[in-house]
Amino acid sequence: MKRRILITGGAGFIGSHVVRLFVTKYPDYLVVNLDKLTYAGNLANLKDVELAPNYRFEKGDICDGETVNGIFEKYDIDGVIHLAAESHVDRSIKEPLTFARTNVMGTLTLLEAAKHRWSGNYDGKLFYHISTDEVYGALPFDGSMFTEETKYAPHSPYSASKASSDHFVRAYHNTYGMPVIVTNCSNNYGPYQFPEKLIPLFINNIRNRRPLPVYGRGKNVRDWLYVEDHARAIDTIFHNGKAAETYNIGGFNEWRNIDLIKVIIRCADRIMGNPEGFSEELITYVTDREGHDLRYAIDASKLRDELGWQPSLQFEEGIEKTVRWYLDNQQWLDNITSGDYEKYYEEMYLKR
Ligand code: NAD
Ligand code: TYD
Repeated sequence: MKRRILITGGAGFIGSHVVRLFVTKYPDYLVVNLDKLTYAGNLANLKDVELAPNYRFEKGDICDGETVNGIFEKYDIDGVIHLAAESHVDRSIKEPLTFARTNVMGTLTLLEAAKHRWSGNYDGKLFYHISTDEVYGALPFDGSMFTEETKYAPHSPYSASKASSDHFVRAYHNTYGMPVIVTNCSNNYGPYQFPEKLIPLFINNIRNRRPLPVYGRGKNVRDWLYVEDHARAIDTIFHNGKAAETYNIGGFNEWRNIDLIKVIIRCADRIMGNPEGFSEELITYVTDREGHDLRYAIDASKLRDELGWQPSLQFEEGIEKTVRWYLDNQQWLDNITSGDYEKYYEEMYLKR
């Protein structure tokens, strides 16, 4: 095999799109997916590629040095795309220690394994860490944007843990000369996102005529990118990015939460054949998230100018595709709600 790539967190939302892209686009690469299958991991996300000859799944914890070292050795890994993480801000407010463990110690454990295995021979090697724009803190409503030079100022336990892991990755370049890349991306949306995050949660609630809990007054702004565009950016950067560089990834696509929610409602009502505005009565303003960051906005011009990447989808197109996907894949949603998705590994993998 030309390359032997370890993708961590490949059973999650973004990871599953990255695994699918690499497995199908690069038949001469071996793609190893290491995932612990936490509540957020769902192997059904990868049904369409699970039998591909260049794909391997390893169930394991990135914090477990023995497991991680074993995988580097078994597959002679030469590239890492690290996505495994605890990723939900609301959960980080309730259980910050889990975030420190997985996001900080897990990343460090992977870095140590790479350093050990590659032992100073870094030719053709790359440790690519997937991070978030949330490490930069929050912006006011003044049109300013996060650039690669923006100082880190994380606010939530989630973003603090991601910031810490970013610093460790860069430290392995400065200290040991390991080729690393860090990318900081804005909010992703699209198929296979766990329905605790805003967009799939709200589509699922509209479908079931349940309340749509809007935090505060819905004034916070997020910058949204279709997940397959993020996966394409990761592909571009993995192959053409410069080691030791940072790239911001975003769709130049800011939305106030309440406006975004109304777009989703309009789209879902239209597809389900409801009269316009039918589901707006489900909007329910609830207590704001603690420390809720006001606004995120990514300036992705470095990536566009240096590596030629651009988002391929207009937002209206992306939202339409996303709403349709969740409405056409109700079983996927229902398997999560019922907990049945957790049986997939046992039923489909262990019995083979
Ligand atoms: P996700 O929560 O959907 O998936 C995370 C995956 O990691 C799951 O499959 C889970 O089982 C796995 N995992 C968790 N802990 C693990 C551990 N200890 N060992 C091995 N596997 C473990 O997350 P996502 O939304 O796909 O995000 C993926 C990455 O992208 C994260 O690093 C996140 O910080 C980053 N990111 C996400 C967004 C976004 O909008 N979702 C935006 C920018 C960056
Ligand atoms: P989320 O999808 O959790 O992503 P993040 O917090 O990483 O940006 O939330 C997106 C925005 O939607 C954020 O401003 C919080 C808000 N939100 C709600 O208003 N209600 C909800 O139920 C959720 C999950 C989020």
